[in-house]
Amino acid sequence: MDYFKLSLVLIVGLALKVSVAATAETNQTLPGYNYTCGNVAVPYPFGIGDSSRPGRGACSLEPKFSLTCNNESQLRWGDFEVLHIDPQGQWDTLFFVSKLCGQDAKSNAPWLRSSTFPVSSDKNQLITVGCDTYGYLDSVYDGNTYSTGCLTRCYGHYPNIIGSVGECTGIGCCEVKIPPSMTNITIQVYNFRNSTNLVGNCNYSFIAKNDSYKFDEQHLWDLPNETFPLVLDWTVGEDITCKDAEIRDDYACKSNSYCDQNNTYSGYRCRCHDGYEGNPYLNCTDIDECSSKDKPHNCTSPDCCHNTDGSFTCSCPKEGEGLDMVTKVVIGVGAGIVILFVSTTLLYFIHQKRKLVKLKEKYFRQNGGFTLLQQLSAGENSSQAFQIFTAEQLKQATNNFDESLIIGRGGYGTVFKGFLTDNRIVAIKKSKIVQENQNDENQKEQFINEVIVLSQINHRNVVKLLGCCLETEIPLLVYEFVSKGTLFDFIHTENSAWNVTWETRLRIASETAGALSYLHSAASIPIIHRDVKSANILLDDTYTAKVSDFGASRFVPLGQSELATMVQGTIGYLDPEYMQTSQLTEKSDVYSFGVVVVELLTGKKPFCFDGPEDERNLAMHFLSSLREDHLFEVLQFDILDEENKQGIMEVAMLAARCLRLNGEERPTMKEVTMELEGIKLMKNHPWTNADQILEESQYLLHEASSSIYEHGDSSSHQYTGYDSIRDRLPITLDDGR
Ligand SMILES: *[C@@H]1O[C@H](CO)[C@@H](O)[C@H](O)[C@H]1NC(C)=O
Ligand SMILES: *[C@@H]1O[C@H](CO)[C@@H](O)[C@H](O)[C@H]1NC(C)=O
Ligand SMILES: *[C@@H]1O[C@H](CO)[C@@H](O)[C@H](O)[C@H]1NC(C)=O
Ligand SMILES: *[C@@H]1O[C@H](CO)[C@@H](O)[C@H](O)[C@H]1NC(C)=O
Ligand SMILES: *[C@@H]1O[C@H](CO)[C@@H](O)[C@H](O)[C@H]1NC(C)=O
Ligand SMILES: *[C@@H]1O[C@H](CO)[C@@H](O)[C@H](O)[C@H]1NC(C)=O
Ligand SMILES: *[C@@H]1O[C@H](CO)[C@@H](O)[C@H](O)[C@H]1NC(C)=O
Ligand SMILES: *[C@@H]1O[C@H](CO)[C@@H](O)[C@H](O)[C@H]1NC(C)=O
Ligand SMILES: *[C@@H]1O[C@H](CO)[C@@H](O)[C@H](O)[C@H]1NC(C)=O
Ligand SMILES: *[C@@H]1O[C@H](CO)[C@@H](O)[C@H](O)[C@H]1NC(C)=O
Ligand SMILES: *[C@@H]1O[C@H](CO)[C@@H](O)[C@H](O)[C@H]1NC(C)=O
Repeated sequence: MDYFKLSLVLIVGLALKVSVAATAETNQTLPGYNYTCGNVAVPYPFGIGDSSRPGRGACSLEPKFSLTCNNESQLRWGDFEVLHIDPQGQWDTLFFVSKLCGQDAKSNAPWLRSSTFPVSSDKNQLITVGCDTYGYLDSVYDGNTYSTGCLTRCYGHYPNIIGSVGECTGIGCCEVKIPPSMTNITIQVYNFRNSTNLVGNCNYSFIAKNDSYKFDEQHLWDLPNETFPLVLDWTVGEDITCKDAEIRDDYACKSNSYCDQNNTYSGYRCRCHDGYEGNPYLNCTDIDECSSKDKPHNCTSPDCCHNTDGSFTCSCPKEGEGLDMVTKVVIGVGAGIVILFVSTTLLYFIHQKRKLVKLKEKYFRQNGGFTLLQQLSAGENSSQAFQIFTAEQLKQATNNFDESLIIGRGGYGTVFKGFLTDNRIVAIKKSKIVQENQNDENQKEQFINEVIVLSQINHRNVVKLLGCCLETEIPLLVYEFVSKGTLFDFIHTENSAWNVTWETRLRIASETAGALSYLHSAASIPIIHRDVKSANILLDDTYTAKVSDFGASRFVPLGQSELATMVQGTIGYLDPEYMQTSQLTEKSDVYSFGVVVVELLTGKKPFCFDGPEDERNLAMHFLSSLREDHLFEVLQFDILDEENKQGIMEVAMLAARCLRLNGEERPTMKEVTMELEGIKLMKNHPWTNADQILEESQYLLHEASSSIYEHGDSSSHQYTGYDSIRDRLPITLDDGR
C-alpha cells in the first residue's frame, strides 16, 4: 500500500468524525446565567438581549429565547410580558381577553402572532362568558386553520345563572380543553341571538391558566380583567429528533441529563436523570437524598443512609437472630431461586463471552487493526510512542465509561477522562458515528493511515495522540490529558477569574500560530485544521496552548493549494470567502485564527444571538470598531496598560489582516507566527513607534473597510448570510461551547 497516497485522502471525515478532545474539566456550565429581571428569573437557555447588560453571559441558546428586560423591571417577549419561566419547558405570559359589548359592538380578536411557542394544552383552558355566546380559538399554521371553542346559553332566565356562580357549567360560562400544538392563535367571541332581552351586556372569550378564573354572574356585565395568565410550551430546536440532536455540537442537554421528546411538540427538552436536580441546560447536580427533604431516602434511619452520585445506599448494622419458622422457609426458598438464577446466568455469560471474543476480533479486523500492526512493525520509528489499547484496558481506565468521567461532549463524540494502570491520565474519545458501510475496506485503511499520521505529528502545541483501540465497533482514540480545559472556557467563563495577563494571552496566540504554521507547512503532509476556534485550543498547567480536534481536518495533496469541499466550521469563525466559494485553503485557518485573537483581545464571544445586530458577529464588530477608531473601547479593559498598548495595537492590526475578506491578502500562518514572535520580543521597545503604527493602522483600516463592503453595503448583510448558510450547510452552530 502506498502509505502517502492513502493518507492524502479526506480525513477522518468519514471514518472518524470525532470532534475534539475538549480534554479537560470543561465546565459544562455557562456560569453567570442567573439573571433576574424584576422578580422574574431568567434561566438558561433563555437570555436577555438588552444592550445595557453586557452581551457575554446573557446570551440565549437560540434567538427565539432572547427576551428583553424593560427598565430593569419588566421581562418581555415581544409585546408580551413574561411572568414566569419554568426550566422544565413552560413559561407564563399575559394574554388579552376578546370582548364584545352592546348591540352593535364588534369583537376584538387578540392575536399571539408566533409559531415558536405553542399554547400549553394541559395547563390552560379556553373560557367563554356571556349569554348565547360562542367563543373560539383559531390556530393558523401553514395556511390551515385549526379551531376549538364552546358556547353558552342562559335561556334568558336569570335564576339559572345565579345557580352556576363560581362554576363554569355552560350556563353563562363554558370552558373547553385546548388541543396540543396550537400556535399563532387568535381568539374571537360572537353572540348568536338577535334578541334584546338577554341577561347582561357583554360577551368574553379568553384563555386562562388553570384555576386563574372563577366565574361570577357580575362578569356578564363587566369582567374586570383585560388579561389572563397563559402558559406556553417551549422546546429547544425545531423539527429535530433526540437521536439527531444528541450527535450535534449544539446539543443542549448538559451533564447528567437526557433528551426528552414526544410527538406532541417539535424540538426537544432536557431533563435531569433521576437522582439529579438543577438546570439540565447547564449542569444537573447530585441530590443528597440523605439530607434532602423533597426526595427523602427510605432507609430505616438517617445514620444508615449514604449518599452516592445519583443515588444513595442504605447499610445498617445487621438485625441479627430471632427469625421465625416462616421467615426461614421463605429465605430458604428464596435462596434456592437465587442459586438457580445465578447458575443459569453464569452459563449464559460464558456463552456470551465466547461470542464477545469473536466479535472483538471481527471489529479489530474491520477497523483495520492488522493493517495498523503491519504499518507499525514496518519500522516507523517515530510511532514507538503510539500504542494499541485493548477494549478492556480502556474500559478499566474509564470505570466502564462512567458518566461522571465525561469531560467533554462534542458533536461527534464523547470524551472521557481515563486513568491507565501505569498512572498516566489520558483523554479517551469515543466516536458516535456508526459507519454506514461497515465493509468499506478502503475507508478503513484511510482511517488507519490517518491515525498513524496524526500520531506522528509531534509538536509541543498540538495535543498528542497516544494510541487507539480497534476492538470496539467504533474506534476509540487516546489522547494526552490536558488539565486546564479549553481556551474558550477560560475567556468566557465569568467566574474563572480570567485575569491572565497580556503576556500570557500573547504567548497563547503565538503558540497557537506556531502549531498551525507547523501543520500548514512543516508537517510531512500539509494539513488544514478547518475548525480553529478557542474551544479547540486546550491549556495545560502552565497555560501552554495545545491545538486539538482534527475531526474535520484535511490533508492537502502535495502541489495543490486548494480543495473543493463541503463547507464546514463553526459559526463566528468561518471564513466568509470559503463560505462563498467552498474552496478550502490554508487561509481559512488564518481567518479563524484571527477571530481567536480578537476573542483574546476583547474577551467577547465570536457570535452572540442577542444584542444589537451589528455586534453579533464579533469579527465584524471588531473591524468596524477599528475603522471608527474605537479599538480601545472593545478591548477587555483590564489587559490594557501604558506598557503594552503598543503591542496590543500591533496584534489588533495583525488580527485585522487575518480577517481580510480576500484570502490572498491574509498573511500566511508562518508570517503571523513571526510577527507575533516579534511583538513578544519588542515588549521593551521605546514608545516612539506608536505614531508610525497609527499611521500604518489608518492605511490598513482603509483597506479592511473597503474589502468588507465589497460584498454588500450594509452590516445586515452579514446576518442574512448567516441565516441562509445555517439553512444550507452542516455548520456547527455553537454560539459557544
Ligand atoms: C456542576 O455544578 C457543581 C456544583 O455547582 C460543580 O461542582 C460541578 O463541577 C459542575 N459540573 C460540571 C460538569 O460543570
Ligand atoms: C441564583 O439566584 C438565586 C435567586 O436570586 C439565588 O438563590 C441562587 O443562589 C443564585 N445561584 C447562583 C449559582 O448564584
Ligand atoms: C422606569 O421605572 C422607574 C421606577 O419604576 C420609573 O420612574 C420610570 O419612569 C421608568 N422608566 C421608563 C422608561 O419606563
Ligand atoms: C389543569 O387542568 C387540566 C384539565 O382540566 C387537568 O388535567 C390538570 O390536572 C390541571 N392542572 C392543574 C395544575 O391544576
Ligand atoms: C399566522 O397567522 C396568520 C394569519 O392569521 C398567517 O398569515 C401567518 O402565515 C401565520 N403564521 C404561520 C407561521 O403560520
Ligand atoms: C333582529 O331581528 C329583527 C326581526 O326579528 C330584524 O328586524 C333585525 O334586523 C335583526 N337584527 C339583526 C342585527 O340581525
Ligand atoms: C353579548 O353581545 C350581544 C351583541 O353584541 C349583546 O346584545 C349582549 O348584550 C352581550 N351580552 C351578553 C351577556 O349576551
Ligand atoms: C381579575 O381581576 C380581579 C379584580 O381586579 C382580581 O382580583 C383578579 O386577581 C384578576 N384575576 C387575574 C387572573 O388577574
Ligand atoms: C408529551 O408531553 C406532554 C407535556 O409534557 C405530556 O403532557 C404528554 O403526556 C406527553 N405525551 C406523550 C405521548 O408522552
Ligand atoms: C427504597 O428506595 C429504593 C430506591 O429509590 C427502591 O428501589 C426501593 O424499592 C425502596 N424500598 C422501599 C422499602 O420503599
Ligand atoms: C468550573 O466551575 C467551578 C464552580 O462553578 C469553578 O470553581 C471552576 O473554576 C470552573 N472551572 C473552569 C475550568 O472554569
